[in-house]
Amino acid sequence: MVDQYEKSAEFIDIMLGSHWSALSSPLAEALRGVSGPIVDVGAGGGHGTRVIAQAVPHADIVAVEPSFALRSVLLARVAENARLRDRVTVLPEGFLQATLPDRLGAVVVMNVIGHFPAADRARIWKMLDTRLVPGGRAVLNLQPPTESVAVPEFKGADVRIGRRRYEGWGKAEPAGPDRLLWHMTYRTCQGSDMVAELDVSYDWWVLDEKTLEAELDEHGLDLKQTGPAELGMYTIQSRAHR
Ligand SMILES: C[S@@+](CC[C@H](N)C(=O)[O-])C[C@H]1O[C@@H](n2cnc3c(N)ncnc32)[C@H](O)[C@@H]1O
Repeated sequence: MVDQYEKSAEFIDIMLGSHWSALSSPLAEALRGVSGPIVDVGAGGGHGTRVIAQAVPHADIVAVEPSFALRSVLLARVAENARLRDRVTVLPEGFLQATLPDRLGAVVVMNVIGHFPAADRARIWKMLDTRLVPGGRAVLNLQPPTESVAVPEFKGADVRIGRRRYEGWGKAEPAGPDRLLWHMTYRTCQGSDMVAELDVSYDWWVLDEKTLEAELDEHGLDLKQTGPAELGMYTIQSRAHR
C-alpha cells in the first residue's frame, strides 16, 4: 500500500488536533450504548482512538493504521496511557486487508472515507452488514467538498509549538467524476522566516449524502445524520437490527 502520509505525518497529527476539538463530543455521543470490539479505521495518530476509549469504557479497540509514520505517533500515544495500552490493539494493514474480529460493536471511519473508491466502499458496507452486532453502528464523516470541484488554495491549519509555527495549506482539482487531487503545502515558520516547505499530493474519492445513502441501501443499511450538521457526521446501522 502506498503511504500517502509518509512525508506529511509530521504535520498531520498536530493539525488534526483542532478538528478533534469539534469532533470529540459528537463522536462520543454517536457511540453511546455500543459495545466492543470497536474498530478505528485509519486511526492516524489516535485522536479518535482516545475519544472512543473514553466514550466506551472497557471495550476492546482495534486501531487500523497502514501509514508507518502515523502509526508511530499512534503507538506512542497508546503506549503512554495505561488505559489505552490495555485495550487498544494497533494493526498495520489497510482496513480491507486487516484481520478483524468476526463480530463488531462499532466501526469508526473519521476523516478517512475519501481514501476508499466506490468498489472498496461496497466491501466496507458488506462488512458492516455481516459483522455489526445488534445495536452496533458505524460512525463516519463526509468532508467537503462532496463533489468533484476545484478548491482554491486556503489555509487549513496554523499551529504554534515553541518558537515555530506550522501552516497547512490546501487546494484541490477534479481528477475524475468522483475524484479530487488534493495538493497540500506544509510550511514551517520561525519569526517572520519560512524555514521549511513541503508539498504533497494525494487522491480523495468524493462522496455526497445521497450517494452514500443509495450505496448503503443496497446492503440493508440505514444512514442517519448525527451531531452538528456542519460536521457532516453520520451513523450507519443495519436495518435488520432496528
Ligand atoms: C486524514 S487521516 C485521519 C486520521 C484519523 N482518523 C483522525 O481523524 O485523526 C486519514 C487516515 O486514513 C488512513 N488510511 C488511508 N488508507 C487507508 C486504508 N485503506 N485503510 C485504513 N486506513 C487508511 C491514513 O493512513 C490516515 O491515517
